Amino acid sequence: MTLPTRQSQRLAGSGVGFDRQMLDNRRFTASGSGHRESSLSEFRVKISSSGTEFLVKAGESILNAALRQGVMLPYSCKNGTCGSCKGHIETGEVHYPFNPPMALERSDIAAGDTLLCQAEPLEDLVITAREIEAVKDIPVRMLPVRVIDKALLAENVMRLRLRLPSGQRLQFLAGQYIDILLPGNKRRAFSIASAPGLEDEIELHVRHVEGGGFTGWVFDDLKERDILRIEGPLGTFFVRNDQPQRPIIMMGGGTGFAPLKSMMEDLLAHGDTRPVHLFWGARTTAELYLGDLPRQWAAKYEHIQFTPAVSDEAVTSGTGFAGVVHDAVLAEYPDLSQHDVYMSGPPAMIDTAKPAFMEHSLPQNRLFYDSFEFGLDVPVRILAKPH
Ligand SMILES: Cc1cc2nc3c(=O)[nH]c(=O)nc-3n(C[C@H](O)[C@H](O)[C@H](O)COP(=O)(O)OP(=O)(O)OC[C@H]3O[C@@H](n4cnc5c(N)ncnc54)[C@H](O)[C@@H]3O)c2cc1C
Ligand code: FES
Repeated sequence: MTLPTRQSQRLAGSGVGFDRQMLDNRRFTASGSGHRESSLSEFRVKISSSGTEFLVKAGESILNAALRQGVMLPYSCKNGTCGSCKGHIETGEVHYPFNPPMALERSDIAAGDTLLCQAEPLEDLVITAREIEAVKDIPVRMLPVRVIDKALLAENVMRLRLRLPSGQRLQFLAGQYIDILLPGNKRRAFSIASAPGLEDEIELHVRHVEGGGFTGWVFDDLKERDILRIEGPLGTFFVRNDQPQRPIIMMGGGTGFAPLKSMMEDLLAHGDTRPVHLFWGARTTAELYLGDLPRQWAAKYEHIQFTPAVSDEAVTSGTGFAGVVHDAVLAEYPDLSQHDVYMSGPPAMIDTAKPAFMEHSLPQNRLFYDSFEFGLDVPVRILAKPH
């Protein structure tokens, strides 16, 4: 089949009351005489660097089709906001019928970039995307889990320990997350805070979100011995081992500490002695809910350093940073060209740190992150509200 050489994109709302201003800000025009509706029910997508090909059904995102067929592409939020799934369209046309591609700038779109978690093909495509081999063979499973412990770690952070059914194991890479499955096809993502070694049990750190349905329920109503349904492991946030000579910077905001804790405990369990400098930021020291743990790592292991950063109170210990956490990183490492950076936490922190770290010479392909976006249904619900 000859692949078309035209490259264009189209944005569409599918009966959802998208905010007009947002649509206008994100609008981009199709080349030529505009968009053609296609009657085909499947499109072929080819990844140019590897030659990997997969089929996308009508109404399916490119990312979901790839994952369904065992082609592992980077992703995190799956709702068009974090930018982890950014790819490039070499030839062909896509549209965005569900969420607008919020993580793309107008200039990205003009350059042919796309968000694979939202884009659906309108014809066969050739794309550029990074395939990730390491998570390819790990099965994603749905499992019931029992809450065996619920403990308040800070005013707004709850630790849940979840036990898998007897004889069952959850294979995952440190840093990955699970979805908690809720009625009405809703799901809520939480990073696994424990290391993979503890296979019949996983730990989550749940921040109470103001007005949040699920996290409010966790704080007020969830009881020990209750059963939750989970799907996982998910995501592509895990420590890369392809360039082990590069020292690691980890940066967490609030409960963004959770996947970093898993990564650190896993590195220690494997005797990995790569230098790791962990920065953990919050508004107050009390919000650094397990602050003694990284302090102990740093005291015990020469290759580990820990810097807490608090933005809303004076630092008294002499070892912390007063200010936002990415400034703490840059104050210590103005040149990031030789480092790998892993960061997780609030979207605002990720959005600010990404360009700031690039300006300080961090190679784009050595930055790995999970942005703690709200659930898939939330942007649609908010945008659909009458304004
Ligand atoms: C990969 C990943 C990993 C994550 N890991 C963690 C983790 O380890 N720990 C953690 O604490 N969090 C984590 N998160 C974030 C977590 O998933 C969210 O905080 C969670 O989904 C919130 O769910 P909720 O049901 O409580 O809130 P929702 O009910 O989904 O509400 C979210 C927000 O939207 C607002 N909202 C909802 N509906 C409307 C509406 N109709 N109109 C206006 N506003 C509305 C709410 O007021 C609230 O502020 C992660 C997210 C991702 C994507
Ligand atoms: S924007 Fe696509 S996975 Fe987050």
